[in-house]
Amino acid sequence: MADEKVIAVVGATGAQGGGLVRAILRGKGFIPRALTRDPRAAKARQLAEAGAEVVAADLDDAASVRRAFSGAFGAFCVTNYWEHHAPERELAQAAKMAAAAQHAQLQHVVWSTLEDTRHWMRLDDTRMPTIRGKYKVPHFDAKGEANQLFLDAGVPTTFLLTSFYWDNLIHFGMGPRRGVDGTLAMTLPMDDKKLPGIAVEDIGRSVYGIFVRGEEFRGRTIGIAGEHLTGTEMADHLTHALGETVRYHGVSPDEYRRLGIASAADLANMFQFKCDFQDEFCAARNVAFSRQLNPLLQTFEHWLARNSARIRTD
Ligand SMILES: NC(=O)c1ccc[n+]([C@@H]2O[C@H](COP(=O)([O-])OP(=O)(O)OC[C@H]3O[C@@H](n4cnc5c(N)ncnc54)[C@H](OP(=O)(O)O)[C@@H]3O)[C@@H](O)[C@H]2O)c1
Repeated sequence: MADEKVIAVVGATGAQGGGLVRAILRGKGFIPRALTRDPRAAKARQLAEAGAEVVAADLDDAASVRRAFSGAFGAFCVTNYWEHHAPERELAQAAKMAAAAQHAQLQHVVWSTLEDTRHWMRLDDTRMPTIRGKYKVPHFDAKGEANQLFLDAGVPTTFLLTSFYWDNLIHFGMGPRRGVDGTLAMTLPMDDKKLPGIAVEDIGRSVYGIFVRGEEFRGRTIGIAGEHLTGTEMADHLTHALGETVRYHGVSPDEYRRLGIASAADLANMFQFKCDFQDEFCAARNVAFSRQLNPLLQTFEHWLARNSARIRTD
């Protein structure tokens, strides 16, 4: 126990961080310190009951993040764009985490990032609209921009490129929808291109694998995915799992933008980026390597076998 190293886990009550806390508790060598804005909330109490140390911290409050990182060996850092839809706030939160990691002299940070798509497409590139004058894919771009904050702070960081959560089919309104003709269709603007996806629980397990292997991943960018699948392949798996035909309804990014769904502009640009830069995007997320990091890595079929009952089909 005395040799166990504390990992401060941001987002511990959420999907990515929660998976990491559970992986640490199941594994050896580390102790999870779960950060939350509200240690009295039910999810935080569950983490404490499971054996995690739970501490109060708010990413908008630098002093609280400093206190939470103090004395730790490492930290998992993540921001939640979808809570506020403000890339500038993500950047400010990442800056507070990088500063706190530097102050605490952490030996290893894993930063849950994504591509800054503006390195592939300048803002004046007309292939897709520019959003709020500064971004192509706001919920990607600020995360990628924030990489430099960890580098500037001199913090030994692993930059983790995550993938589309298959859990979005349950929680993010991206599951199959029943049309007026009564049949199920899954709408995505992915053309015939492959979408790297992952069971969100596997993100935390992979982060645990990164901390275990430690030294070799400091300063490196690592991408993870459970499988790369086309819309048609996803629909075929859904058909099998749900016992009812699911059709892939491929639409253009412009059609997707006009669907009237929340954050359609941001998401349409994201999917277009994944299509237009398919080779690089998939190559950055090697499945065999992801399985080395996390031997429990699920395929889509495997994930569906456990979760398809939670996908709404009404
Ligand atoms: N959906 C996808 O397919 C996908 C794929 C790749 C990356 N992502 C990215 O994943 C991120 C969200 O991660 P997630 O899915 O793990 O989130 P989540 O399940 O929605 O949970 C959000 C977590 O963030 C914590 N949090 C939010 N604001 C905080 C603050 N100000 N201070 C301290 N903690 C705060 C919450 O903690 P408390 O409420 O307990 O304080 C909670 O634990 C997003 O930025 C998104 O862009 C999503």
